[in-house]
Amino acid sequence: MSGDKPIELPSEAELAEMSRDELVRLGTKMDGVELVHYEERFPVPGTRAERRAERIVALWFVVSALSGLAFLGVFLFWPWQYEAPHTDGHLLHVLYNPLIGLFLGLSVVALGVAALLYTKKFIPEELAVQQRHDGPSAQVDRATLVAELADAGERSGIARRSLIKRTAGLGAGVLGLGVAAVPLGALIKNPHADSETKNSLWHTGWKAEKGEKVYLRRHTGNFHEVSLVRPEDVEPGGFETVFPFRESEREDDHALVAALKRADAPVMLIRMRPNQAVTKRSGQEDFNYGDLYAYSKICTHLGCPTSLFEQQTGLLLCPCHQSQFDVFEYAKPRFGPATRPLPQLPITVDEDGYLVARSDFIEAVGPAFWERKS
Ligand code: FES
Repeated sequence: MSGDKPIELPSEAELAEMSRDELVRLGTKMDGVELVHYEERFPVPGTRAERRAERIVALWFVVSALSGLAFLGVFLFWPWQYEAPHTDGHLLHVLYNPLIGLFLGLSVVALGVAALLYTKKFIPEELAVQQRHDGPSAQVDRATLVAELADAGERSGIARRSLIKRTAGLGAGVLGLGVAAVPLGALIKNPHADSETKNSLWHTGWKAEKGEKVYLRRHTGNFHEVSLVRPEDVEPGGFETVFPFRESEREDDHALVAALKRADAPVMLIRMRPNQAVTKRSGQEDFNYGDLYAYSKICTHLGCPTSLFEQQTGLLLCPCHQSQFDVFEYAKPRFGPATRPLPQLPITVDEDGYLVARSDFIEAVGPAFWERKS
């Protein structure tokens, strides 16, 4: 911006002829900037002190790059799957989160330290005073500003410090890769590769395998305890969250815990009150067992647990964005951003009186995804 004192401005032709130094001086003068103090950090280039400072800055950039690489390595290859306590893989499992946090944090901090050190050690000491002015910038101001910025870049000395330039590029590049790996990580493994297994987006932990019965199991707080559910366990108007259980998993600590931790496993078992009128979804008229209805707990908006049940109104509330689902009408959304009903799990009772799933859900649970048509 131009200063208050009238300054004789160059013509457009003169402006085009001016060198960068002349433009810098003109811009400084027009901005009413007074340079009070200016001093190069290393007036004599190439001294031992300068080279040592350069190596220290480069070292921090290298630390940033190595930490970024370590983060990428842990994120992509570390065994992150749950392993029960007292098993071989448990220690590796519990180290996963601390390690990705440690390496990502170290990479960011080292990059910041390197930038700070560079500023402290190489950017010339300068004290300038400038008056403030109002109004928009004229074309001449913009031209001089660009020249000043280019000049500042040159004075910073970064152009001639190839070691710092390269290591800075390395550090920032690896950190950028690490940051990009987080959203892209899920795409590296094709989530639809095994679309017929319970590990695909199309199926859940309720899918029967080798004809084995899948029971409804409550979570007692003890990951290794198996507590199966009978119809009489749920009071009219009551609600219980249940998870899948197979008899073959009874002695398998790992499978018992994994079933409780699967994102698609939680199901809400709801008992309607006697004589409560319920509208069933077309084609799913026999999915309930008497007054008992089982719905996926995973919100069809963005996948939060829809845990709040209001038995008087029959509304299930998702606390994340307040979607409400009406269990008196096949868990259809009544309010909020969710647009699809909660999927219903077909249930029945086996010969011993325990509740079991008749099959997996007949549609994908949770939020929509690209390949999903409905
Ligand atoms: S995740 Fe349930 S309303 Fe958004």
